[in-house]
Amino acid sequence: MNDKKVILTGDRPTGKLHLGHYVGTLKNRVVLQNTGEYTPYIMVADLQALTDNANNPQKIRDSLIEVTLDYLAVGIEPTKSTIFLQSQIPELAELTMYYMNLVTVARLQRNPTVKAEIKQKSFEKSLPVGFFTYPISQAADITAFNAKYVPVGEDQLPMIEQTREIVRTFNSLYGETLVEPEAVLPDSEICKRLPGIDGKEKMSKSLGNGIYLSDDADTVTQKVMSMFTDPNHIKVEDPGNVEDNTVFTYLDAFCSDKVVLDEMKTHYTRGGLGDMKVKRCLNDILQAELEPIRKRRAEYEKNLAEVYKILLEGSLRAKSVAADTLSKVRKAIGIEYFDQNMGSSQGGRYV
Ligand code: TRP
Repeated sequence: MNDKKVILTGDRPTGKLHLGHYVGTLKNRVVLQNTGEYTPYIMVADLQALTDNANNPQKIRDSLIEVTLDYLAVGIEPTKSTIFLQSQIPELAELTMYYMNLVTVARLQRNPTVKAEIKQKSFEKSLPVGFFTYPISQAADITAFNAKYVPVGEDQLPMIEQTREIVRTFNSLYGETLVEPEAVLPDSEICKRLPGIDGKEKMSKSLGNGIYLSDDADTVTQKVMSMFTDPNHIKVEDPGNVEDNTVFTYLDAFCSDKVVLDEMKTHYTRGGLGDMKVKRCLNDILQAELEPIRKRRAEYEKNLAEVYKILLEGSLRAKSVAADTLSKVRKAIGIEYFDQNMGSSQGGRYV
């Protein structure tokens, strides 16, 4: 028996992953994977992506390979983590069905992330039921694998809270069956909410303010050079402000030498340190971080058949774990009427 604690997490395949995903959760996943102390499952959430893209499945088909390449590129290793596709595990849909009975419409309406998404997608009058209920299907994703830890971005906290409530309700109604999960967030506040290169909002594909893990070196440089700094820092010798200065925010997130960074901040605040110099420093740091990621991505890109094979094999492994949980859930509710041979499991009462 493997009694390592399970980690489950995933992403909707609606585009490539960016630096916000990287510092917000991907880095954490790789660190946890490499401790060897956990059993990690990483899910490409293509069914959840369909809940607001039902009219464009091609986008999801295209993106799911990009997201998988991003996973492999940052160092998620198929020998250590099970990477799988949500749509290949129909057991998750059945679990969702049972959990739907444990959640009220009013409770779903209070979910702040879903509320914000409804607004952002102008769904006020045309909200798909599947989208509205995705927090319940996410609870199925997490509990199907008995996950204890869920490394995610901060916006996913309401989903973990919803899952915990479902687990408590289920266990109190039907007996101890499901594991109550916890979110794992980065320690630093900046990494929890990395702003976009416009410095305004969180980095997000829909706002077009991202640096992508798959951006080539020139694109990254060009994006860094276009970043906002202190608008009052006009001449090099002017004193500058490091607060609300996106370039320094990024240095806080990516520069590991805090002594050098503090010196730069003091120099900038005093005056005499030009924006170009600070941007070049940030660019060097980002390129050094991204170069090995790009290299690994390029390797896997040459062999997409291998990438699909990783997804297929991962999905087969994941399916057997989810099927086991589903069977426990059906037994707990008391609807496992027949044993596996379709004979009676209850003294012939139901046959
Ligand atoms: N909601 C996540 C996202 O928007 C994707 C996701 C689906 C997920 N199921 C999950 C994340 C289970 C963590 C655990 O990207």
